Amino acid sequence: MSPSRRDPGRPLVYETPVAIHAWSRELRGKGRRVALVPTMGALHEGHRSLLRVARQAADAVIASIFVNPAQFGPGEDYSRYPRALDADLDMCAQEGVDAVYAPSPQSVYAADHSTWLVEEALAKPMEGASRAGHFRGVLTVVLKLFHTLEPDLAIFGQKDAQQALLIRRMVRDLDLPIEIRVAPTIREGDGLALSSRNRFLEGEERRQAPALYRALTACCEQWQAGEQDAGKIRAAGLAVLESYPALSVDYLEIVDLETLTLPLRHGHPVLMAGAVQAGGTRLIDNIIYPPGALAGITQGATSP
Ligand code: PAJ
Repeated sequence: MSPSRRDPGRPLVYETPVAIHAWSRELRGKGRRVALVPTMGALHEGHRSLLRVARQAADAVIASIFVNPAQFGPGEDYSRYPRALDADLDMCAQEGVDAVYAPSPQSVYAADHSTWLVEEALAKPMEGASRAGHFRGVLTVVLKLFHTLEPDLAIFGQKDAQQALLIRRMVRDLDLPIEIRVAPTIREGDGLALSSRNRFLEGEERRQAPALYRALTACCEQWQAGEQDAGKIRAAGLAVLESYPALSVDYLEIVDLETLTLPLRHGHPVLMAGAVQAGGTRLIDNIIYPPGALAGITQGATSP
C-alpha cells in the first residue's frame, strides 16, 4: 500500500488507516521497534521533544496528526483549532520522523460511528469534570491509533498529565502490549507551558498567562514545606491568581497522583493541576512532586 504523499526530504504521509497499518506491520515484521507520537498538529517545541524521545527509543517513528473532533465539546474550539500541516511536516522531517499519519475525520469515524471507550475513575475529576465527554473522545481515538499503527511504544507529554495517566490505565486494563513513556513539559522562558493554543493569546492575556504556572509553583512550595491540607495548598495558588484579572480560574486541584483524589498520602507523589480561561483561550498546566513521578508510574503495563 503506497503513501498518499512522498516528497523528497519529507516523511511519508499516509491518510488512511489501512495504508499505514500495512506499513507499520511490515516494519514490525522485520523486527523493527516502532514508536508513535500522537498529536493534533500545529507542532511546537513540546511536540518536538516527544519526537526526539521517540527517535532515541525506536527504529521507526510515526507521528499522527489528527484534530480529533470527538474530544471537543459542542461549545469548544474544534473549528478554530490551528492546522498547519506543511510546517508540521517540516518539523517531522527535521526530527527524522519516518511516517506521518494524517487521516481525515471521515476515515477515522464512520458517519454512524457508535462505539466509545469510557474510563470510570481517573476520567472523572479536573479536565473530565470541566469537559464532558473529552476523555471518551481521547481514549477512543488513541485506542484506534494503537490498533491501526501497532506501535511498540507511544510517547505522551506531562503537560496533559491526566490524559497520560488515563492512557496508562487503558493500556493496563485492556492488556495492550504497548509501552507508554511520559516526557517533561517544555515551557517558555517565563514559565508558560507551550501549547498549540498559545498563538491565540493577545497582549494582556499573554502577559498574565504564566501566572498559572506561578500559582502551581506556590502550591508546590507549600507541599514541599510540609503542608498536607489540600485546601490550604490550593488557597496559596488561588491567592496568586487573584492578582491576574485576565485569567479566570476553571479549577485548581491538589490530588494524589495515582488516584487523582484526596487524601494526599505522605510520601506519595502529588499532582497540582489547573485550568484557566484567558479571553477565548483555555490553558492547562500542572506540577508533579516529586518531578519524575509520572514517568515512573507504570500502572503494571504488560511488556511486549
Ligand atoms: P496535542 O495537544 O497536540 O498534544 C500531543 C502531545 O504533546 C501530548 O502528549 C501532549 O501532552 C504533548 N505536549 C503538548 N504540549 C507540550 C509541552 N509544552 N511539553 C511537552 N509535551 C507537550 O494531546 C493531544 O494532542 C490529544 O489529546 C491526542 C493525545 C493526540 C489525542 O487526540
